[in-house]
Amino acid sequence: GKRVGILTAGGDSPGLNAAIRGFGKAAIGRHGMELIGFRDGLRGLVENRTQVLDGAALAGILTVGGTILGTSRDKPHKMVIDGEVRDMVPTIIENYERNKLDAIVCIGGGGTAKNANRLSQAGLNVIHLPKTIDNDIAHTDTSFGFSTALGIATEAVDRLHSTAHSHHRVIVVEIMGHKAGWLALGAGIAGGADIILIPEIPYSVESIAESVRGRATSGRNFSVIALAEGARDLQDAADLAAAGALVKGASTPEAKAAAAKHKAAVEAAHRDNPFKLANRLEEATGLESRVTILGYVQRGGTPDANDRLLGTLLGSAGAQLVEEGRFGITVASQGGDAVPVPLDEVAGNLKTVPVDHPWVKAARDVGTGLGD
Ligand code: F6P
Repeated sequence: GKRVGILTAGGDSPGLNAAIRGFGKAAIGRHGMELIGFRDGLRGLVENRTQVLDGAALAGILTVGGTILGTSRDKPHKMVIDGEVRDMVPTIIENYERNKLDAIVCIGGGGTAKNANRLSQAGLNVIHLPKTIDNDIAHTDTSFGFSTALGIATEAVDRLHSTAHSHHRVIVVEIMGHKAGWLALGAGIAGGADIILIPEIPYSVESIAESVRGRATSGRNFSVIALAEGARDLQDAADLAAAGALVKGASTPEAKAAAAKHKAAVEAAHRDNPFKLANRLEEATGLESRVTILGYVQRGGTPDANDRLLGTLLGSAGAQLVEEGRFGITVASQGGDAVPVPLDEVAGNLKTVPVDHPWVKAARDVGTGLGD
């Protein structure tokens, strides 16, 4: 039988173990393959740290949060080894051969798709399974992790209404999602947030303050604001875009490094964005304003039914593709089916919220402010 390696990379997310199990049970049970786990993402592949994944190791993990394999955010071509940045792709190829692998399965999000594509271009047989709570992977309707995180964030928005209305406060709740607004928009709609702010629609504080004041005049002297972590006001969004353009436009390595440093400084200056927003709203509305950062609570714990289902579907379909010898592929979810998509169409191609998306329209239709 074939020997297949498997690893999880990037941020942990509900459904990772369901996908490991889905792939593993199909690979071992149906296709008679041998499965070798690598610890802590690509770092384990570089350091050849393996973990036996037999039937016993795969039992009882469907409902467990996080990843039994561990994870990391390492990049294969730029890995920090003993304090030095090195290209470890050659070492990865050596370890792939040393373990006599026929394929390697990389489970992860947008960053992992890029890394998996790099390994595929270096000649390895790679399959990518899309996980992320951000829902920002191109060509897949959704990724495992998103549904669970959406449920958690929605419950948080629900619960924050208690304090908001009891204390007549504005509560800004920061929701993850990287540079995409899917999670904040979804949870904001489902949790009945009064205002939803996403990166795709830069906001004006004055427009938000107006909505909050409008609500107060009509007797609702509180507001819950779902703020995506990547959302910015018009000025900050423009500053960030300009810094990004500088990096893209830099022609020499020195100019690129300087521009990247500048961009990092601009980004760092935005880290207190939820607090800045709450302070400005308190000033503008006279209502006491507070911040709740959901953070890693959104990624923790047992996956919901959707994510268990999706992890199992995409994982088992991945095993079928390995059996057929089809590689350089992301196993995407499209219309309820598992569909192979070329990795190089997925890598570096983040899916953000189109400003005319049905969710945006629905939010506007029910009177939710989007800050514009
Ligand atoms: O990609 C998942 C995610 O939780 C994003 O929503 C967030 O921007 C990022 O990871 C946080 O990264 P870290 O785990 O490194 O804090």
